[in-house]
Amino acid sequence: MEEIVQKKRMLSGIQPSGDLHLGNYLGAIKNWSSRADAYECFYFMADMHTITVRQTPADLRRRTLEQLAQYIACGLDPEKNTLFVQSHVHQHAELGWVLNCYTMFGELSRMTQFKDKSAKNAENINGGLFTYPALMAADILLYQPDLVPVGHDQKQHCELTRDVAQRFNSIYGDVFKVPEPFIPETGARVMSLNAPESKMSKSMPEGCVFLMERPEDIQRKFKRAITDSDTENCVRFDPENKPGVANLMSIYSAVTGRSFEQIETEFAGCGYGKFKPVVGEAVIETLRPIREESERLLKDKAYLEGVYRSGAEKAAYVAEKTLRKVYKKIGFLAR
Ligand code: TYM
Repeated sequence: MEEIVQKKRMLSGIQPSGDLHLGNYLGAIKNWSSRADAYECFYFMADMHTITVRQTPADLRRRTLEQLAQYIACGLDPEKNTLFVQSHVHQHAELGWVLNCYTMFGELSRMTQFKDKSAKNAENINGGLFTYPALMAADILLYQPDLVPVGHDQKQHCELTRDVAQRFNSIYGDVFKVPEPFIPETGARVMSLNAPESKMSKSMPEGCVFLMERPEDIQRKFKRAITDSDTENCVRFDPENKPGVANLMSIYSAVTGRSFEQIETEFAGCGYGKFKPVVGEAVIETLRPIREESERLLKDKAYLEGVYRSGAEKAAYVAEKTLRKVYKKIGFLAR
């Protein structure tokens, strides 16, 4: 009898709470597109997560569609990857509620993202902000993935997901696959160009390079990037004493594939003044085709609609199987 080999699964998501930036690209998306043949892949726009912080409805709608166009432009072929909008697959909200009841208050209190975001949004520390990791665990566990490719800042949430899955399995038997986070060696923690002690994020736009930004604006940000206050003026990888230079070297390494030693040799004897625009140029050339293709795709709304509709259908099929099993295990009467 012919054996059907089940491909391994991979899943990840990004919140459409802001425009996609170089951190999202190098930390996450870049590692998604290369694996479509080896894995069955699910990628989504995590719109339900964005409302833990107040959003302007029209902007959220626009950014969700733009994000889909950017996913495709980054190389996620909708024929090979399931691309969908989180809120279109109601099983996320349903399993999210169940997992809330298997996630401990103490665990949620330890999440650094909760601590950071509640400090930044002191006027709106809502329940969703606190229980967010239970919804993220549901996003993941619904699809029984083997790998979850994310940047370093999502490691803690992925570990909590594993703990919740193991807790649930220890009560009800093997319901969930316990997934592994996949964090890249370079690019997992892209720092702000003008404040290298903070991670690159849309909340600090001057130190953040957006995927859709004009080349001249990108180059300006790189030329103004903070390097060091030392007098050495030498391109050397030393994250502790030269965090700005180390960040630029990491970005350059992630976009060119060169090692730190090769970069040090390439720029031996050159000062930061020569190094910074070369990094800027390499980033511009990496992002150019993505920007152009996104702009082209955004003109074809009907195509994008077709992609997210069929994506939601495929995703719901898989998600429903897991949800049904969970409901049965916990004792909900079958419909
Ligand atoms: P989010 O939307 O903040 O970020 C999306 C992805 O980009 C990575 N990232 C970075 N990587 C390197 N350097 C940076 N400066 C940087 N900034 C962001 C993040 O690590 C992430 O991989 N909770 C998630 C979204 C989510 C999710 C999921 C992810 C919801 N459900 C299920 C995976 C699986 C978040 O807020 O990521």
